[in-house]
Amino acid sequence: MTRLIIATRNDHKVGEIQTILGADFECLTLRHFSNATEVVEDAPDFRGNAVKKALALAYWLYGQRDGHSVTNEIPGFVLADDSGLEVDALNGAPGVHSARFAALDIGGAGNSSTAENNEKLLRLMRDVPLGKRFARFRCVIALTAVGPDPVQVETFEGACEGRIETSPRGLGGFGYDPLFTPNGYNQTFGELGEAVKNGLSHRSKALAALKQRFAVQ
Ligand code: IMP
Repeated sequence: MTRLIIATRNDHKVGEIQTILGADFECLTLRHFSNATEVVEDAPDFRGNAVKKALALAYWLYGQRDGHSVTNEIPGFVLADDSGLEVDALNGAPGVHSARFAALDIGGAGNSSTAENNEKLLRLMRDVPLGKRFARFRCVIALTAVGPDPVQVETFEGACEGRIETSPRGLGGFGYDPLFTPNGYNQTFGELGEAVKNGLSHRSKALAALKQRFAVQ
């Protein structure tokens, strides 16, 4: 059993990651370490943000180790997922700003609601014809061991190609899922359900590479 902590408070993300990784991995989250450092996700790409989140949490956890055992109370690995949607007709937006896409317009701190982000995406895509609504989800997973400097970080990447619908469909998944139909399907991630999404998503591809890394050790 590999114990790791996922550097997120997004329960949907954690649920997907735990399901995809399976019973060989025990996933804790920032909800187990509520006073962990907050990270400003200001890198220009997914990889930069994933690495930043993983390192910040690994350093913080290592600083907490007094009186705790790294193998028991403190997990041995930190995993950080940075992900988002790239839309060709919007020159790759929302990209790294996927979580706070709507808030960019008002300069507010923090993430926007899913409804606000999806409404903005549909508004910007209003005049884009069906044949030009190409998009992809991207995910970069950063993995690092909890330990002293210098900390090594490994990254694993995945992408899932598809298109943006003209209205939301389905209640499954999270974020932009009701607007995204993966290539080869006629239903959105919101309609396809967890098992289908986890079989082909950006996140499942990145995590498959990570599982392989543990398998060969
Ligand atoms: P992060 O937590 O900074 O990586 O933000 C990721 C954001 O990208 C989420 O808040 C969603 O808006 C979007 N996103 C990432 N992965 C998915 C997915 O699998 N489905 C739908 N939206 C996603």
